[in-house]
Amino acid sequence: MTAAVPPGLPAKMHPLVRAFLAAPGVVRDAIDGFGSPAHLVFPQVFAENLARLRAPLAARVPGYRICYAHKVNQSRAFVRTAAAAGVGIDVASAAELHGALSDGFDPALIEVTGPKGEEFLRALIGTRVTINVDNAWELERIAALADAREPVPVLLRVCGFPGTPVSRFGMPLHTVHAALEVLAASRDRIEFRGFAFHLDSGEPAERVRAVDTCLALTERAYDHGLTPSVLNIGGGFRQVFTDDVAAFDAYVHALRESLLGRGEPMTWGGNTFGFHLDDGAVHGTPVFHKYANTVAADTMLTDLLDTELEAHGGRGIAQLVGENMLELWLEPGKALVDHAGITVARVEFVKETSDGSTLVNLDLSRDAVTPADQEVMVDPILVTAEGADPVAAGVFLAGRLCLERDLITNHKVWLPRRPVPGDLIAFPNTGAYHMDLSAARASMHPLPPKVAVTHRDGTFQVCRDVEFESGPIPRPRPGIDGARRHEVH
Ligand SMILES: Cc1ncc(COP(=O)(O)O)c(C=O)c1O
Repeated sequence: MTAAVPPGLPAKMHPLVRAFLAAPGVVRDAIDGFGSPAHLVFPQVFAENLARLRAPLAARVPGYRICYAHKVNQSRAFVRTAAAAGVGIDVASAAELHGALSDGFDPALIEVTGPKGEEFLRALIGTRVTINVDNAWELERIAALADAREPVPVLLRVCGFPGTPVSRFGMPLHTVHAALEVLAASRDRIEFRGFAFHLDSGEPAERVRAVDTCLALTERAYDHGLTPSVLNIGGGFRQVFTDDVAAFDAYVHALRESLLGRGEPMTWGGNTFGFHLDDGAVHGTPVFHKYANTVAADTMLTDLLDTELEAHGGRGIAQLVGENMLELWLEPGKALVDHAGITVARVEFVKETSDGSTLVNLDLSRDAVTPADQEVMVDPILVTAEGADPVAAGVFLAGRLCLERDLITNHKVWLPRRPVPGDLIAFPNTGAYHMDLSAARASMHPLPPKVAVTHRDGTFQVCRDVEFESGPIPRPRPGIDGARRHEVH
C-alpha cells in the first residue's frame, strides 16, 4: 500500500460542526478554557434533527409525540432544547427523570421506559408520568400501588414478534392476554394508553411486523373494554456516519485484504472485527457494520409510515394509525443527536511499537468515545493539520489507561501528517452513546467535561453544558465558515 492515497473513513459532518473545527483558534481556545479531553455538543444540530423527524409525522398522522430518549446522552443542553421545542422525553432512571423535571418538562410529557425496580416504581405512582411497562411484575406492582384519585398512565411494552430475535425487554406476546385482564380489572386506577415496542435492530421489516402485531393487539384491547389511544414504535432510527460510502467500502476491502496478509497491516493486536478467515478467504459481517448506513432517520421514518400492510387491505401504516385514532409515539435517541456531538483530545506523545506500528497516545480513554466497546469506523480529525508538505501517516490511536486493550482505534487510521505532542484530535459524531454509555473513571481520571457550542450572529459561543440556556435557538445558516472567534463563558 502506498501512502499516496491512503484508505480513509471520512465522516459526514454538519456544516456547523465543520465550521467550528475549521475556524482558526476556536477549538484550541475552547480546550484551553475547559480542558482536554472535552465533549462538545451542538444543540442547534439537535433542533434541526428534531425538525427533520417532525416533518413526515406532521404530514402524515393526525397526532404524534416524539419522546427524546435521554439515555443517548447525559447532556443538559439537549434536554433543555427538547423541552423548549415542546416534545416529550423518555427517561430510564430516577436521575434522568429528575433532570427532565428540573429542566422544565411537564410530567404529562414524560415517559419512563426500561426495567424499573420497586423503589423507582413507587416514586412514579401519582406523578402523572407515563410508565412504559416492561413486565408482568411491574404491572402487578402498579395495580397494587395505584390510587383511583390519580390513575397511572401506562403503555405495555411487548416483544417476541414473528421473526424477531428474543429480547430481554418487554412482555412476550403470549402473556399479553393476562396483562389485558389485569388492566381491565384495574381500569379505575390504571389508564391504559396503548402498546409500545422498541427493537434492538433498526431493520425496517422487523419494525413493520411489530407495528402490524401492535395494531392487532389494539383490537384485542378493545375486546377487553379498554380504549388504547397510543402506538409507541420506540427508537432505533439510524444515524449516517459516513460521508462517502465508496471510500468506506474501499477501506473495508483493504482491511479484509490485510487480514489475508495482503498489503499493509491495518489491525491492532490480531483484531478481526467479527470477520473470520477460512480457506484463504474472509467471511462474515463486521461488528462495525452500522457505520456504513446511508439511509437517514427521517427517510426511515417516512418509509415506515408509507408502508402498506397486506393484512389491512394494503392501507399504509400512517393511514391505519389515523383511522384507529391512535397517537403515534416515537422514542428516538441517536437520530436526534446525530452529528450533534464531537470529542476533542490532546496528543500526549507518539511512539513506535516492536512491530513497527505508530501509536499516537491521547489524554483520553477508549470508553469515552466508544459505545459498549464497539470499534468506531469514522476518521478522527487532526484539528491542527497545517504544516508544510504534510505526508500522511498510518497510525493507531492509543488511550491513557494502563491496559493493553485501551486502544481508541484497533484499526489503522491515516492522518494528514504524523501528529506531535500538543496537537488536538477531534472525534466526529460522538453524541449518540459514544460519549456517555460506557465511560468509566478508571485510574481516577475525571470524565471529560461537557461543553455546549452555539453559533449566533457569526460567533461561536461556548459554555458549560449544565449552564446552557435554551432560549430561541437560531437555525445554523448554511455556509457559515467565515465564523469569528467564540466567547467562553
Ligand atoms: C426503550 C427505548 N427507547 C428508545 C431507545 C433509543 O434508541 P435509539 O437511540 O436507537 O433511537 C432505547 C435505547 O436503548 C430504548 O431502550
